[in-house]
Formats: sequence, structure tokens, C-alpha cells
Amino acid sequence: YTTSMKKLIIANWKANPESAVKATVLAEKIESATSIYKNADIVIAPPFPFLPLVGDMLSRARLGSQDVWNTEGPYTGMVSPRQLKSLGVAYVIIGHSERRIHAGETDDMIQKKLAGALASGLQAVLCVGETERQGSELSAMVGEQVRTALKSIKKEWLRRLTVVYEPVWAISTMADTAGAATPDTAFRARMYIEKILTSLFGGRASRDVRIIYGGSVTPANITSFLTEGAMDGVLVGKASLDPKKIGEIVRLAASL
Ligand code: PGA
Repeated sequence: YTTSMKKLIIANWKANPESAVKATVLAEKIESATSIYKNADIVIAPPFPFLPLVGDMLSRARLGSQDVWNTEGPYTGMVSPRQLKSLGVAYVIIGHSERRIHAGETDDMIQKKLAGALASGLQAVLCVGETERQGSELSAMVGEQVRTALKSIKKEWLRRLTVVYEPVWAISTMADTAGAATPDTAFRARMYIEKILTSLFGGRASRDVRIIYGGSVTPANITSFLTEGAMDGVLVGKASLDPKKIGEIVRLAASL
């Protein structure tokens, strides 16, 4: 199984670091640790308030946001796709499990956000994943999440879509490296998501969608997800706060 696109590495800082100054320093360090590796696409997704500052530090990596709403208007606390674009944001993460859990996001809200982001020309990164560790069968929950989120998506937008398979049980387990999914589980998730995409949009359009893995990615396991797991990239949380680790992850991804 081979994929032809450059690998996509997304650094999801979540609600870190604690200050604008620290965000600027972290962005600068990550930029200098990763910019020499040309054969990979890199995205850094800081918290909303740090977007302009971090954007100013980046030349090689693209700017990403961790969430988005679908439009401007009377939506207190929300941020629209066009507002993000005006700050240089190129990628938006949508439907992360931490937003589903802590902010009550539903598949229907995620569908709206996804359509809004794609309609305004952003690259959208849709997160899906089951909450409980499964046996060999991939959870129907993942299928439901993908189908609902893609309900109002146009075929011509698919080139700007990435789907992240991020099993909730595999997130933030870095202390215990047995916590990440196996490359085999990732591979089966890839096949399953691809099959759904093909059934909705046909095979040709579906091939444009990048399918990546997230959940306790480290320099030690990245290569296996990209090779045995046949993933087009990774979404990195904890390890993306350490310039050495994310630098190593990008180096390995770019060397394939
Ligand atoms: P993690 O987070 O790499 O810390 O497990 C990944 C994510 O939730 O995006």
C-alpha cells in the first residue's frame, strides 16, 4: 500500500503553553527544528489567542486552528472561517474528541463546522475515533461520525479534507507507550474510512482525502504508523510541545 502525497504532520498544542511569550518561543524552536525537512507538510495549531503571534514566527510550517464555527454573526465565543483566514490560518481541526467531550460537540455541529470551513477555502482536518478500545472490528461509531460529518460536503472540496483516525483511548498515554493504537489498527481504520468515502463520493475523489493517525504519536512509533499503518500523516499532541520530539517526528516522516 503506497500513498503518493507528502506526509502531513499537525502539531496540536491544545490549551498550551500558558503565555504568549512561551508560545512565541515554542513556535520559533519548532520552526528551526523542522524547517530543513522539505518532504513533509507541517501545521502548527496553537490556541486561538496566539494565532497572530505564532503565525509571525512561521515561514516553513503552516498555521492551523483547533476549532472554528461556520460563519460570522450573533455567536458569542465563536470564531468564523473568514476571521481565521484573515490571520493566515490555512488548516482547521474540527471535531477533536476533547471538544466532543468537554464542549459537548455533536456530529451535527461538526457537520456545520466542516461545511463552513471547506466552503470558505480552508483545509479541514476532521477528527473521528471510538471511545472504547475495540477488538478486531472497527467501531460503527467511527462510520457514523464520518457519514454525519460529510453529509453536506461537495465532491470538489475533498482535496482540502483530511480525516484523522484518533481513537479516544489512545490519546495522551505517552507515559505508557503501550497506549497508542497498533499500526495494524490504524491500517484497518484507514481501509474502513476509505470504504465509506468511496461509497459516498466514488473512488477517484476519495483518493484525494488524506487519512492520518492521532493518539500518543512519538519519534519511536511514527514510522510504523506511516509504513505498516499506511497513514498519510499524524496529529501530534503532547510530543508537539517538545521541539526535539516534533523535530524528530518530522525528520522521520520526511525521510520516507
Ligand atoms: P497526544 O494527543 O499526542 O498527546 O496523544 C493527540 C491529540 O489529541 O491530538
